[in-house]
Amino acid sequence: MPTPQQLIQWKQQGRAIAVLTAWDYAIAQILDHAGVDVILVGDSLAMVALGHDTTLPLTLDEMLHHAKAVCRGVKQALVIVDLPFMSYQESPQQAIHSAGRVLKETGAGGVKLEGGHAAMAETVSKLVHIGIPVMGHVGLTPQSVRQTGFRQQGTSPEDKERILSEAIALEQAGAFSIVLEHIPADLAQTISEKLTIPTIGIGAGHHCDGQVLVTSDVLGLGTWKPKFAKSYLNLYELITQAAQDYCSEVRQNAAIQEPRQFLEP
Ligand code: KIV
Ligand code: NA
Repeated sequence: MPTPQQLIQWKQQGRAIAVLTAWDYAIAQILDHAGVDVILVGDSLAMVALGHDTTLPLTLDEMLHHAKAVCRGVKQALVIVDLPFMSYQESPQQAIHSAGRVLKETGAGGVKLEGGHAAMAETVSKLVHIGIPVMGHVGLTPQSVRQTGFRQQGTSPEDKERILSEAIALEQAGAFSIVLEHIPADLAQTISEKLTIPTIGIGAGHHCDGQVLVTSDVLGLGTWKPKFAKSYLNLYELITQAAQDYCSEVRQNAAIQEPRQFLEP
């Protein structure tokens, strides 16, 4: 399993980091066997696995339930778990309590949290001092959807400057890596060049040190995906076909079978 430190070395060596999300045992096991470097139990599972419109409703207990299942399926990859909305924003103490539960109750190697303002950098620094590896997340941060919508961030010069300084603050606070979500490619490139720790992009161009996608988008499992996400498979169609084949086979077999005999007691 790559350590957080190893990911930083990979950046120095120019070895790109491949990250995918997982929310259950079966998917996690396949991704791990396939050689994915980091498996993220993203809170996007609220939307892709639980059917919510945003990531906001997910609770820490629900996240732990999924994270435990993912960890049972993973032997090689580094597993990182998203801290859900309002499980860490209240205070550094709350973040320590929540991240502590993730490390104590699952086999995960670290947590991810959103935002890079001064208070969040302080929280990251406290977690790191305890020995809890933290991945940051700036740009579009879906837990702020009520403020920003799911729109691209970092388009104005002031916004670009703010996101860059958040990324730098997170690195200084001790984060081992940072997700850059839905920002212009030139901004992602600038951040990736300025930082020593690896950037993991999603909808942030090709100049990041690694890439992450939501696995249901990669597999084409859902009915909707963001434009920047590439599908490598259309599982929606394949499963529909398989389920229809199954249904017609069951109905055909039932039609040719003798009516069932009830056994006498
Ligand atoms: O929740 C998630 O899946 C994520 C990735 C998109 C980075 O945070
Ligand atoms: Na997330």
